[in-house]
Amino acid sequence: MSENTKKIRAAVLRELPGPWTVEDLEISGPKRGEVLVELKAAGLCHSDDHHRQNDLPLANLPAIVGHEGAGVVIAVGEGVYDLEVGDHVVASFIPACGKCKWCSLGMQNLCDFGRFILEGTQIDGTFRITDKDGKGVATAAMLGTFSNYQIMDQTSLIKVDKDIPFPIAAIVACGVPTGVGSARNVANVQPGDVVVIMGIGGIGMNAVQGATLAGARHIIAVDPIEYKRKRALEFGATDVFATIQEAEAFAKSITNGQGADSAIVTVGVITGEHVSQAYQAVRKGGTLVVTALGKVDASISDINLFDLAMMQKRIQGNVYGGWSPRVAVPMLLDLYRDGKLKLDELITRTYKIDEINEAFDDMHSGKNIRGVIIHEH
Ligand SMILES: NC(=O)c1ccc[n+]([C@@H]2O[C@H](COP(=O)([O-])OP(=O)(O)OC[C@H]3O[C@@H](n4cnc5c(N)ncnc54)[C@H](O)[C@@H]3O)[C@@H](O)[C@H]2O)c1
Ligand SMILES: [Zn+2]
Ligand SMILES: [Zn+2]
Repeated sequence: MSENTKKIRAAVLRELPGPWTVEDLEISGPKRGEVLVELKAAGLCHSDDHHRQNDLPLANLPAIVGHEGAGVVIAVGEGVYDLEVGDHVVASFIPACGKCKWCSLGMQNLCDFGRFILEGTQIDGTFRITDKDGKGVATAAMLGTFSNYQIMDQTSLIKVDKDIPFPIAAIVACGVPTGVGSARNVANVQPGDVVVIMGIGGIGMNAVQGATLAGARHIIAVDPIEYKRKRALEFGATDVFATIQEAEAFAKSITNGQGADSAIVTVGVITGEHVSQAYQAVRKGGTLVVTALGKVDASISDINLFDLAMMQKRIQGNVYGGWSPRVAVPMLLDLYRDGKLKLDELITRTYKIDEINEAFDDMHSGKNIRGVIIHEH
């Protein structure tokens, strides 16, 4: 092994759909602009499962997935200008190049580097990890946090204060900003609003928190799983239902038949049917936020266009809560420190990397709000 090559342990996808196989691999680098991070914690988001199920096909295999992570910088490449060895960092699944039109407009969540999410390469189109046969291993979203070490571009890394526990820093990489921002930024929840949130996982629970912070009067949480409904009440939900139809009827009953000011769809695997169901719960002039992902070719077919136009409703997409990661991450951690955002309570269970298949089984059976992998070194 050369000086800058290291043994690592990671969960790898070799086929799609596929199980995670935990393997010993080798990593080399960092090259120019890159950082070697000892990852301490990685959150499990349903989007990782979308890769595994081939709902969101990865361009290159084998691949390491995982896009919520936090750790410590252990080496920096040439040209890394604001990170040094020992810094604590959050790995954001949206890099921010700082130069493209969207970064320049303050919309880092739409940065053109988003194209690397499914490619799984570094910016120069190559890989830093090889398997035992010498084959290059892709890293989804330029991250691949289901690995105990990783080389990431500096544009993906956000320095955070050292008092923040790593599992907390990890979930602030995706689930927390996407959820809180779904309500605060994308639905633009106002004090006194009635908001419906459909699907109470890691994202939906944070949408509940976002609506709470924004001063909503009724936060109506919908999930078929009783445990999720019970927990939602602890995070600020005022009313809980097992189905969207019950939530719609309730929203209309408290608004003189009008419906919710906004609805946010955060189910695990979205279909067009979920969108049209949630659309029915929204009042005229209201907003329906589509945060959840599903099969890459899923679309909406049954929303009446006369109703859409004449009720002046808005159907709004959402990447990363409509937030720039470099604004969201420090702000959300400050709210956590001030006791205004519940983050410890979101982490239901921690796992070792070797337990990753069990961790995703638990996601599917609805046992966890957020599961987090604690890496070993
Ligand atoms: N837009 C983005 O930037 C972005 C970022 C992260 C995640 N996501 C997506 O957000 C979605 C949620 O992710 P997660 O990690 O919270 O998933 P999760 O599996 O933790 O939670 C999903 C929840 O939806 C519930 N659910 C399923 N069907 C339902 C229905 N018909 N009505 C109500 N609830 C239902 C499940 O019981 C579960 O509690 C996923 O599709 C994920 O890919 C999008
Ligand atoms: Zn995610
Ligand atoms: Zn950019």
